[in-house]
Amino acid sequence: MSHKYVAFSPLLAPAGAEAMVRLCERFGSYGMYSEEPTFEGIGQGLPARWDAARNFVRSGGRFGRSESLDRLAARTNYFRETYAYGEEIYIDGIQPFLDHEGFVEAARQLHGRPLIEPAIVFANLLVPGQELAIHTDVPEFRGVSRKTHAQWLIVAMRHSGLFEEWRMPIATGVAWFHDCNGGEFAFYPNGSAAPPVAHKVRYNTAIMLDTDSVFHGVDRVAETAIPVDHLRPGMRLHFEGDGKWQLMDGEIPIAEYRWPDLRFSISWKAYCFADEGEKRAWREHSDDLSVEFVVNRLVDDMRARGRITGDRPPDHELVDTIIDEYIHFPAAAAR
Ligand SMILES: [Fe+2]
Repeated sequence: MSHKYVAFSPLLAPAGAEAMVRLCERFGSYGMYSEEPTFEGIGQGLPARWDAARNFVRSGGRFGRSESLDRLAARTNYFRETYAYGEEIYIDGIQPFLDHEGFVEAARQLHGRPLIEPAIVFANLLVPGQELAIHTDVPEFRGVSRKTHAQWLIVAMRHSGLFEEWRMPIATGVAWFHDCNGGEFAFYPNGSAAPPVAHKVRYNTAIMLDTDSVFHGVDRVAETAIPVDHLRPGMRLHFEGDGKWQLMDGEIPIAEYRWPDLRFSISWKAYCFADEGEKRAWREHSDDLSVEFVVNRLVDDMRARGRITGDRPPDHELVDTIIDEYIHFPAAAAR
């Protein structure tokens, strides 16, 4: 199974690219991608991305490294802020990026769907030693979204292929505005059993793909003298001016970085609708799934495959059974 992707080089006119770097600096302060909420019902109390976290710890990441849990957690607890969400604009100057014609046209091509509605723009910043565990993004289905339901379940729904008639296809563009040492965007356009592509981070370039279907992650950003052991949940990364960034624990400075030490990306996501009727059904919730229906259908399917025999397993077991049955992560490779 191979998936389309589109590379952009350059993405913007020179002044536009320069403006994105200034915008990132002007935003000024970036918090850690804190734990997402969990929900009542199946999997209650588990981390939101139990699927990816469990695989990361089990596999030691793309290169099968063996490290303590604390250190692995520090490696993936990167910095994120949202620049735009629907109609909400959180920083001046982001609109041209949100409306980028090249992204919109590529999104149409990606899913063969004409109605593109840009939905979100956010920035990720990684410091040296950090990486992003291999995962697929959380997709969206009519009636089941990350706002109300467990993320690992929604991811498994996509991989099961059982709920495609309710899925809202999303196109994701990832853009870079500096050259980075390490931190390649590693993705599996030919499926998790085929070798990945390690795409280098270069100034004013981007890539667009269906990140809800294609496994991807970020390889480790080259380690400097400052190791990840300094990192604790709740820290922030502040721009200090003159190309300098400061890691802060409240008011206490912890470490200093310069632009070339960091990995910076801006992600763009858009809904891709087939027609106005589909967009309306999504807006008006006229054809929504319920989570009970979803779990029952998964259980029925696993019975049919002989994965479940006898009684339905208790929820805490069922979670891992669902993940193992449907989400087939790429195997770790030797470096
Ligand atoms: Fe992702």
